[in-house]
Amino acid sequence: MRAIICTEYGSPDVMQLKEVEKPIPKESEVLIKIHATTVTSADLRIRKADPFPIRFFYGLIRPKNNTILGSELAGEIEAVGKNVKRFKVGDPVFGGTGISLGANAEYTCLPEEGAIAIKPTNMTDEEAAAIPFGATTSLFFLRDKGKIQSGQEVLIYGASGALGMAAVQLAKFFGAQVTGVCSTAKLELVKSLGADKVIDYTKEDFTQSGKTYDIIFDTSGKSPFSGCLSSLKTNGLYLRAVHINLSPILRGLWTSITSSKKVIGGVAIERKEDIIFLKELIESGRMKSIVDRCYPLEQTAEAHRYVEQGHKKGNIVITVEWGNNT
Ligand SMILES: NC(=O)c1ccc[n+]([C@@H]2O[C@H](COP(=O)([O-])OP(=O)(O)OC[C@H]3O[C@@H](n4cnc5c(N)ncnc54)[C@H](OP(=O)(O)O)[C@@H]3O)[C@@H](O)[C@H]2O)c1
Repeated sequence: MRAIICTEYGSPDVMQLKEVEKPIPKESEVLIKIHATTVTSADLRIRKADPFPIRFFYGLIRPKNNTILGSELAGEIEAVGKNVKRFKVGDPVFGGTGISLGANAEYTCLPEEGAIAIKPTNMTDEEAAAIPFGATTSLFFLRDKGKIQSGQEVLIYGASGALGMAAVQLAKFFGAQVTGVCSTAKLELVKSLGADKVIDYTKEDFTQSGKTYDIIFDTSGKSPFSGCLSSLKTNGLYLRAVHINLSPILRGLWTSITSSKKVIGGVAIERKEDIIFLKELIESGRMKSIVDRCYPLEQTAEAHRYVEQGHKKGNIVITVEWGNNT
């Protein structure tokens, strides 16, 4: 099968399209024929080994076991292991591969109990593939860590990326009053996802307005730390998807110990229950997928270059062309 192989850490040029062996599903695994996959911010972090501890997991000098990047997919079940009960051959599915990656390829194997579900009936493969990463991470932060409640005032900083666009929609679903912060070109799009208010960070510093929030969720890693804390209500939560440098981690711990406000980071985990939940949300019309651009598999390096600019609208999809080549 064709796959994008990354055997070095470095620039997008380290990724090469290669012929590799087609995987064979184990007894409790499914083999998925991939129609669409994505390039996410996580793929970039792994390719660049940024932050450094990524090397402890994926390989100290170079990527070792997980040389095919990509953590989201939509496609169809091509074969099932003998113990598989949840899926049958031909089922259309979507989901996430988690830290094992492997989705930037024509095929991958996943455990039947992995973060996969039948694809929503009202989405294309491209749209469905772009859901799991941003939406499961935002669910993890807003629902699991933030215990978001109906009626709360929630600000999403970085509302126009993969996490942010999902976060706006999820916060609305949970009944919050949502303010989205993004750049000028994306204000209308964020509003169209249900944000009650949008703020252009290139023109306005939201921390200077005097308004306070129950939850501030920063998906971008660019929000002003002190300003966010002072823009929280008593008992407010500052959720940080990018909480990897020592200084904010220590400041966050100190704040959480010495005040009623809490600073929360963490690493999201994808679960099948979340993918099923998202499928239902999509089918009931409460979650849309935002696809900025699509690239063919052989142009995955180009897609990385675009994502690297840090200003994509939602998601970048990789389409796997099949034609007669089944
Ligand atoms: N903790 C976890 O488990 C976890 C899981 C997944 C991802 N992450 C991390 O979350 C981060 C975001 O991921 P993503 O996939 O959503 O990225 P993305 O799609 O590239 O989105 C980046 C967001 O940052 C905003 N942004 C860029 N520069 C900015 C600036 N100077 N000021 C304010 N906002 C700015 C962008 O808005 P504009 O384009 O409008 O400027 C956009 O909304 C990544 O660093 C990723 O590693 C963490």
